Amino acid sequence: MPQSPLPRIAVLVSGRGSNLQALVDAITAGTLAAEIVGVFSDRLDAAALQRVPPGLGWSRDAKSYASREAFDAELADAVAACAPDWVVCAGYLRILGAAFVARFRGRLLNIHPSLLPKYRGLRTHARALEADDREHGASVHFVIPELDAGTVIAQATVPVHAGDSADMLSARVLQVEHPLLVAVAQLAVAGRIAEHGATVLLDGHPLFTPLRLDSAGTLVPGTK
Ligand code: GAR
Repeated sequence: MPQSPLPRIAVLVSGRGSNLQALVDAITAGTLAAEIVGVFSDRLDAAALQRVPPGLGWSRDAKSYASREAFDAELADAVAACAPDWVVCAGYLRILGAAFVARFRGRLLNIHPSLLPKYRGLRTHARALEADDREHGASVHFVIPELDAGTVIAQATVPVHAGDSADMLSARVLQVEHPLLVAVAQLAVAGRIAEHGATVLLDGHPLFTPLRLDSAGTLVPGTK
C-alpha cells in the first residue's frame, strides 16, 4: 500500500538551533512522524543552519533589506515554496509582521522562554529573577501579530534556585524546551491541535488551560 506523505515542517531560526536539533533528533529517532522541508534564518551566520543539509537551509541578512515588510515577503515566499503543513519558530528572534502571520496563521507555532503571559519579548530569564519568581519555564503558542501573545498550547516549568544567574536559569529552561517543542510538534503533525479564534482546540475540544509537560516528558492537562 502506498505510504501517505509525512507532514511537512518548516523551521525558522536565528541562532544556535538547539530546538531545531531536538526536532531533527526526534524525527531520526522515529518519535516525530514528520519531515523538515526547510530551515529559514534572518541571519547569514546562524549556527542552526549547520544542523541540516545545505539544501534545506535558506538564509538572508534581514538587516540588509529596506524594510521589515520587504524581508518578510521574501521569507514568506521561500517558506511557502516548500509547502509546509506547519511553520515552527524555534529560536527565531525577529518579530514577524502581520502579513507573514496572516499567510501562515493557524499553522504557525513559536517557542518562547517564559510562562506566558509573563515576560513577552526579551530578557525573560533576567526578568523572572528580578521579580523573584519561584518558577519559570517555556511556552509553545500559536503566533498572532501581537508579539508572544497568541494562545498557549503547552508549557513546561522549572524551579528558580537561590543564587541563579540568568544564564543558569536559561540553561535549565532550555532542557525542558526541547521535549516541550517535540511534544507539541507531535500533536501538530498528528492533526490534534488547531487554532480557533483565541482558543486552542485539542482533538476538537477547547483547551481552557495550557497543557503541561510532566517530569516524564508527557503532556498532561494543565491546572490553573
Ligand atoms: C530558546 O530559548 C527559545 O525559547 C528562544 O531563543 C532560544 C533559542 O535557542 N526564543 C525566543 O526568545 C523567541 N522569543 P536555540 O537556538 O538553541 O533553539
